[in-house]
Amino acid sequence: MKRTAPVYVCFLLSLFIGTGCRKAHDTYRPGKYAMEISQKTYGTLPDGRHVILFHLMNANGMQADIINYGGILVSLKTPNRKGHLGDVVLGFDDLESYLHDPPYFGALIGRYGNRIARGRFTLEGKEYSLAVNNNGHHLHGGLKGFDKQLWNAEPIQTDNAVGVKLSLLSPHGDEGYPGNLDCHVTYLLTNEDELRIVYRALTDRPTVVNLTHHSYFNLTECQRDILDHELTIGADRYTPVDEGLIPLGTLESVSGTPLDFRESTPIGSRIDNDDIQLLRGRGYDHNFVLNNRDGSPAQAALVYEPQTGRTMEVLTSEPGLQFYSGNFLDGTLTGKNGIVYGHRWGFCLEAQHFPDSPNQPAFPSVVLHPGEKYAQTTVYRFSVMK
Ligand code: BGC
Repeated sequence: MKRTAPVYVCFLLSLFIGTGCRKAHDTYRPGKYAMEISQKTYGTLPDGRHVILFHLMNANGMQADIINYGGILVSLKTPNRKGHLGDVVLGFDDLESYLHDPPYFGALIGRYGNRIARGRFTLEGKEYSLAVNNNGHHLHGGLKGFDKQLWNAEPIQTDNAVGVKLSLLSPHGDEGYPGNLDCHVTYLLTNEDELRIVYRALTDRPTVVNLTHHSYFNLTECQRDILDHELTIGADRYTPVDEGLIPLGTLESVSGTPLDFRESTPIGSRIDNDDIQLLRGRGYDHNFVLNNRDGSPAQAALVYEPQTGRTMEVLTSEPGLQFYSGNFLDGTLTGKNGIVYGHRWGFCLEAQHFPDSPNQPAFPSVVLHPGEKYAQTTVYRFSVMK
């Protein structure tokens, strides 16, 4: 009798709420949950330090898992149009896999998101030389960027959000950058179904900063490639690149090119066009110059996945958005739940300043002086279209 009682109760409950015996947290139920935040040890680094995983759930059941190694978003569960919650970011099941240099899955990127040509720049008359890690260029912070650092972390809760506040002190000379950089990044999962990322940094010497977040999204719950996702980007212009994906320095119109996403367009519809920019990127790997920027978070992009009905809106305070269509994924990585990540299995929308800005005086400045505060906010907002 004791053993059958839970089954019986579950059966009655399933009749009542119509969700079968699925655990409650697999189902999106607006306003029906108490927000949750819990933490556990996720793994141990080779030097013995423990990595913590924070599990966040909002009042609707949407969930995010974040680890303090690299500030990596390990999992993000959002509803499909049937109210089923499924994971929409690429990643791994264990810490070990994240240590083997994956292509920045879910990570925080610093000190500089994107490329700096030859890893060199001059600031206030002084030349700096950074670690180079991408065909002779500096990419995503160098050999040991913020994606490979263990951040200090504390859980936070507000009236309408649960979150994690991550802190890192990057010392003067880190990967070649000047200045001690005191960084704070807060992830908030709000009851408006947003993953909100707030970045702050201070320096004690003039330096350059461009932080971003590098999730690979796949709104099909990572079941197939991302080519059917329909994308809108609010950008009339982009920064064309050379063979090394370094900006030429010009801003060019997207009009009449496969980079025109001003109207919602399937990612796959033009990706293999014979276009010099697409050939250089092996697909989309370009920085879009966002329209209507005044430094406060404004809409930058919208993605719709027709089979599941999921939509994701991106809002940011930043002037640029790197759209990367996962061109370098090639089936050699196996991710969560044994899913093999094939070509173009995830896409990134990285809110940022433009690539190579330290060498491009005409681009918006990325220089941070002592006494100034680096601030950026980016929001990934989820909903469904019936
Ligand atoms: C870059 C790609 C690069 C990828 C690495 C993206 O942000 O734009 O060129 O290959 O990161 O995963």
